[in-house]
Amino acid sequence: MSLELSAPTQPAPECADDGVWLECIECGEQFAPFDDIRYTCDECDGLLEVRYDDPPTFEDFEGRGVWRYNAGLPFEVGVTLPEGDTPLHEMPRLREDIGVKNLRIKHEGMNPTGSFKDRGMTVGVRVAKELGVGRLACASTGNTSAALAAYGARGGMETLVLLPSGKVAAGKIAQASLHNARILEVDGNFDSCLDIVQDLAAKGEVYLLNSLNPFRLEGQKTIGFEILEEHYEDYGEYPDRIILPVGNAGNTSALYKAFRELVQSGALDESEVPKLTGVQAEGAAPMVEAVRNGNDEVRRWDEVETIATAIRIGNPVNAPKALPGIRNTGGTAISVTDEEITAAQRDLAGEGVGVEPASAASVAGLRKLREAGEISADESVVCLTTGHLLKDPDAAFAAGGNPEPVPNDTEAVLEHINSGSSAVDRVSNRLSKTVDSPLFPALVGGAVAAAYLGYQKLRSKFDDQ
Ligand code: F0G
Repeated sequence: MSLELSAPTQPAPECADDGVWLECIECGEQFAPFDDIRYTCDECDGLLEVRYDDPPTFEDFEGRGVWRYNAGLPFEVGVTLPEGDTPLHEMPRLREDIGVKNLRIKHEGMNPTGSFKDRGMTVGVRVAKELGVGRLACASTGNTSAALAAYGARGGMETLVLLPSGKVAAGKIAQASLHNARILEVDGNFDSCLDIVQDLAAKGEVYLLNSLNPFRLEGQKTIGFEILEEHYEDYGEYPDRIILPVGNAGNTSALYKAFRELVQSGALDESEVPKLTGVQAEGAAPMVEAVRNGNDEVRRWDEVETIATAIRIGNPVNAPKALPGIRNTGGTAISVTDEEITAAQRDLAGEGVGVEPASAASVAGLRKLREAGEISADESVVCLTTGHLLKDPDAAFAAGGNPEPVPNDTEAVLEHINSGSSAVDRVSNRLSKTVDSPLFPALVGGAVAAAYLGYQKLRSKFDDQ
């Protein structure tokens, strides 16, 4: 029961290095952290976790960013750009609209390469240096590859990334390309890319930096520390719930680990742990299926599709860590449609926060759970937005309004501004853009409804003025 919230701190085993070791979450086998390269248990192939004999308290944290939390990390400093210290935006209008006590958006898109993956890479690439490996590699829906390419470059190391061909947003490939990763486009989905890169790692060809690598999750754990500290500072209490998009379920596992360690050290009471709530796209929702059906195992989905390409994943490899995280915190999981994701992306943008589609899934999930009564009006909620708007410019443009061509003349521009091009036209622009989109057949029902509702809302606003 090593993943229970109440699991006690263990004394360091002989194999530990300065109070740090690796432990299998299935059979409990323990390993030295940096002697050999391993990603899963030698005995049973179970997932590994980094363990500490002295988990941190809030008093141990000092400095800024990810490395503020080094009392809960395997090293003092890493290969840094630097990362972490992301904003926790207030969203007064959205809070009011959705109807919860407090709503904050933890915008991980504000990390150096524009996603939360940077937190994992600052630790992961540091460990790669410790192990003295040559080539770094990952499979990716895009953001991991961008982060690995940048942190590999920063660390002066060679990087190789495997991407599902045609399914990675433009901004992400541009980053991997400019940071000089070798980019292999696989004729398959993310899960096939991960199968291949795991094979390459097993052959000793590459050092794997996907979230199967337990050190990556150590860095991502700091999102949990940061949210708790910031929320407490602002409200004198911790959030009731944290909602996040789920792909491989690495982040869900990492947040749960942060809470467990604080409970272990006595810094946090079990009753204060936020409910972890995962959101997946309807076309790629194996975790939701398992949570909703009460299954202990997650079924691999071979066919996955969603506009939120970052979470277009059918085989969440960290499910054995993440399922207990959702269940033991009293959380839940829900799937959302592509239309709901786009609507949430617009909601966030309407209050100044630009995110990529996968990130907006957290807010879409909040709205849906609130409407279903699964989240109550008196909850304080933090939604995690995992990646920046510019990661996926095509999706942003498809969700947004059209530029309007005007003559090169002030009077003509004035005339154009004052004639016609009202918010109502902009809604119909969005609608016509949706019709042009290759995703039209999937989007049309919801988009028409959303555009119509948006139109009604705008009309009523204009009528009020
Ligand atoms: N949001 C974004 C923007 C992501 O890029 C990812 C994962 C997730 C959410 C899901 O996080 O896997 O920890 O549950 N992207 C990976 C990648 C798979 O390759 O960039 P998770």
